[in-house]
Amino acid sequence: MAKLYEEIVRRRTFGIISHPDAGKTTLTEKLLLFGGAIQEAGAVKSNKIRKTATSDFMEIERQRGISVATSVLSFEYRGRKINILDTPGHKDFAEDTYRTLTAVDSTIVVVDVAKGVEEQTEKLVHVCRLRDIPMMVFINKLDREGKDPFDLLDELEQKLGLKVVPLGFPIGMGQNFQGVYNLWEETIAIFENGSKQKVGTIREFKNLEDPVLKEIIGEEALEELRDNLEIVREVYPAFDRERYLKGELQPVFFGSALNNFGVRDLLNCFVEIAPPPQAKQADKRLVQPDEPQFTGFVFKIHANMDPRHRDRLAFVKIVSGIFERNKAYYHVRLNKRLKFSAPNMFFAQKKQVVDRAYPGDIVGLHDTGNFKIGDTLTEGEKLVFKGIPRFSPEHFRYINNEDPMKAKQLAKGIEQLTDEGVAQLFTLDVNGRKVIGTAGALQYDVIQYRLEHEYGAKCSYEPLSVYKAFWVETDNPEAPDYKEFLRVKQRYMAKDKDGLPVFLADSPFSVEMVKSEYPSVRLKEMAE
Ligand code: G4P
Repeated sequence: MAKLYEEIVRRRTFGIISHPDAGKTTLTEKLLLFGGAIQEAGAVKSNKIRKTATSDFMEIERQRGISVATSVLSFEYRGRKINILDTPGHKDFAEDTYRTLTAVDSTIVVVDVAKGVEEQTEKLVHVCRLRDIPMMVFINKLDREGKDPFDLLDELEQKLGLKVVPLGFPIGMGQNFQGVYNLWEETIAIFENGSKQKVGTIREFKNLEDPVLKEIIGEEALEELRDNLEIVREVYPAFDRERYLKGELQPVFFGSALNNFGVRDLLNCFVEIAPPPQAKQADKRLVQPDEPQFTGFVFKIHANMDPRHRDRLAFVKIVSGIFERNKAYYHVRLNKRLKFSAPNMFFAQKKQVVDRAYPGDIVGLHDTGNFKIGDTLTEGEKLVFKGIPRFSPEHFRYINNEDPMKAKQLAKGIEQLTDEGVAQLFTLDVNGRKVIGTAGALQYDVIQYRLEHEYGAKCSYEPLSVYKAFWVETDNPEAPDYKEFLRVKQRYMAKDKDGLPVFLADSPFSVEMVKSEYPSVRLKEMAE
């Protein structure tokens, strides 16, 4: 078991989150360069759905292939095994990102220095905060003109509710960007224009009094840096690892991913402070990573790109023990044993069959329909990991069958696509009609296309005016106001795929009304 412990403590599994275009892909690539996982810049293909492709779902299908390859990127750095879990930047795939966040032990948030905190940053950080995930912030694109660093730090606190600790601080910006002071290692790195895309041409100084430093950046900039550092030390709390690990405090670095500047400072600090694989809550108990028995859960399912083979790849995060190839594991929901002869792991961009995997690792299992998101695998214990969230979709449409001969295929297709988490399915109580809810309008095209090509079924949609779905709970099902609510709102009541009651509200106003008129009713925006 000494081996298991050793492997656990050296693993760092994390996700990079950002608003599209802040520089997530570029940063990922630079991290891989440091890890020696790739040899040149430009090797990592962005998995983001390009702007030009927003209405072209064939393009999305193509890019789904790319995103399998970048689902997990692993590399070694300073004796650590680092697993980056990729999250789609496109907001129509936000659900995917939320689920991926259940499999990370920490995150790095990338913010564009000019744009500051953007919409997707806010949503994703909110999810991380709900779960107290440790976060670090990288403020990117310092080679461009942007907001004042102190204003940005304020914005992080106000808009994201973070408690920031700057561990880096920039000297100038844009045309005048001269470098960053690293408060973590107490070094200064000087940005030399023209050092683009190269690693290691950065000059470092240990000491603010170094005369060469003064010569390079000038007395004025040096004076300003001294003043700024004084403010930083006075205004912000000192770094405290315990508080960072609890999600109470977030270190901030500044740099330019494109120029590979400030990335190493971030990485060096990350490998020292970021948490190894953590214990995870299951329905019956807390599961510790160093327990000898294997447990894991499915957080993502990827359909095969080849429509002739309807097999899929289920991504399993290992929570405890050692996962071994060809060993029969217990699929708790189906109550049966399954063996996996070719579990995949991902090294940089290559898939590889592995014999063993450890907590913190992700294995990709070929699946012909056994898995759905949230499923738990164990060595025999009946337990279920909690916390794969479902949020209310943003779009709702009725789905109709267009080919009466293919009703079965359609039902199966909808079942499997919703298992994959492409969309959510609701069934109206009053008439049994099916409603598809998605995070983005784009998904409707994807679903229609895939139903036709993978299942041979044809569907059409019909508009439905729903503002949001709320999961309905109450402490007292016998309360008169609860019963009254169910009666009055009958037309708006549905069941989700797990049979949980859902209220499909048609406006924010009706939500407020329910809250004030039926106090026994609890409307929840999220289900687990
Ligand atoms: P994302 O994954 O978060 O969506 O962002 P991505 O890395 O693709 O970066 C978005 C754009 O920002 C890219 O330019 C990228 O080159 C640029 N970028 C990233 N880091 C920096 C930086 O430090 N400084 C500057 N000036 N730009 C940066 P693009 O023109 O949209 O795409 P591309 O054609 O260069 O790939």
